[in-house]
Amino acid sequence: MAKTKTIFYCTECGYETSTYLGRCSSCGAWDSLKEARFDKVKSKSKLDKDTGLFLRAESELLTLDQIKEDEISRLDTLSPEFNRVLGGGIVPGSLTLLGGQPGVGKSTLLLQVALNFAKQNQQVLYISAEESSKQLKIRATRLGLAMKSPIAALHSSSQSSLTESQLRYAQTRKPCSERFDDKTVSDIQEKILVYPESDIRAIIDVIESKEPQLVIVDSIQALYNPDIDSVPGAPSQIKDSATKLMRTAKSTNIPIIIVGHINKDGDLAGPKILEHMVDTVLQFESKQDSSLRFIRSIKNRFGNTNEIAVYEMQQEGLKDLLNPSQVFLEQKSGGVIFASKEGRRSLLLEIQALALNTNYHNPRRLANGVDLGRVHQILAILEKQSKISFASVDVYVNVVGGIDLGETASDLAVALAIYKSALNYTQNLDIVAIGEIGLSGEIRSVTDIEARINEAVKLGFKKILLPAKNLKNLNKKFEGIELVGIDKLIEAIDRVFGKK
Ligand code: TYD
Ligand code: MG
Repeated sequence: MAKTKTIFYCTECGYETSTYLGRCSSCGAWDSLKEARFDKVKSKSKLDKDTGLFLRAESELLTLDQIKEDEISRLDTLSPEFNRVLGGGIVPGSLTLLGGQPGVGKSTLLLQVALNFAKQNQQVLYISAEESSKQLKIRATRLGLAMKSPIAALHSSSQSSLTESQLRYAQTRKPCSERFDDKTVSDIQEKILVYPESDIRAIIDVIESKEPQLVIVDSIQALYNPDIDSVPGAPSQIKDSATKLMRTAKSTNIPIIIVGHINKDGDLAGPKILEHMVDTVLQFESKQDSSLRFIRSIKNRFGNTNEIAVYEMQQEGLKDLLNPSQVFLEQKSGGVIFASKEGRRSLLLEIQALALNTNYHNPRRLANGVDLGRVHQILAILEKQSKISFASVDVYVNVVGGIDLGETASDLAVALAIYKSALNYTQNLDIVAIGEIGLSGEIRSVTDIEARINEAVKLGFKKILLPAKNLKNLNKKFEGIELVGIDKLIEAIDRVFGKK
């Protein structure tokens, strides 16, 4: 007789243990461990023949020169931002994982992608394991399938009749759908097959029999295989479903996009192996109280990582922000502009700072969007170089728009923003500042300077402060913009605020 084994797994992070714990020792969640029993012998033989991870459709032994290199063809999602973050579109046969907090807009985005495929006369299979088909239909209607969206209206009306702000709005957002007549709407709807199922075996059967051009699985945590004795969301279930989907994607060449939940710490829930198996991992993020949404590529076998897509969530779904820099700078708030590098493009962002005298011994330092440790270091260098004391000054730094800057190239802009507030300097600075600051106040060069300068030129800036070394090594001439090479932090301060 087969022996039964009991394990406990965490419903938050997927951690497995053989003994019950009140608190998960991996993610720290309380009372999140559930019991699962499975048949020891059965699962071992199953592992041998059925759940071998990384199994590919082809298993020929070839030398490198025998392998033919195919041009990677890509499928257009009709969303410029989603195409960008994928590296140019969806690769046939690829497995993509889209992770994000509940409510961020994963299902909305993927339904929009499905509708866009249908508009191009391609069939999509939408596996809705979490929501009923009625809920999906309501969302599709909301996404403007049958309605005229205000932005689409702006695009289609004669541009000369629009006010300046309406025109600017229409130029920076791409509508997710246009108005369709009844015939087109029914054509689009016919192309989307909705399957509210969570049994992975039935799902694989339907993919293989219908052979759609795209499969969307919402979500991997809701799928299960009744042959495995644990509940949906358990690590063994996730592993099994992901393996089966992976094998199907590779053998049929149909691309599959999977939705993945994330846990309290912002990591993808379930076993880490899920991220290793898939070709692309995308993370959907938002900041509280903001309608802006960002998708970052964390892993991409077919494109750059750290690429970022920017959207705005509106009443009728997600809108591509075609010129995010312009949107970020729509409301100037007296900070210093920085040209960041996100993937292959540059984004202009405003860094605000507030420096305020305090009577407390321990002044407050708060940073939003930049590393707090880095702010401490910049303050120390600023104090040493400029002879202003921050010992009894509270300092708050904020990146407008909710993007987290992961690069030190923003140091100069942070330092100038803090200094500006400390001086109570109220004039607007019409400059872009780029540069890393070394411990002795030297300005160090940064990568991709030309992309950053291009973005500043595009947005109409007239002056950039940049590392002197970057300026010396520039291969290209830039017209209509003054480039000021900076060697030392104090030089930048003198340039911007005048010599003291
Ligand atoms: P949803 O796609 O269900 O999120 P997820 O699948 O990541 O959990 O998005 C839900 C949120 O998006 C919900 O709070 C309402 C909002 N939303 C809009 O603002 N506009 C829309 O057109 C839609 C469909 C949703
Ligand atoms: Mg959802």
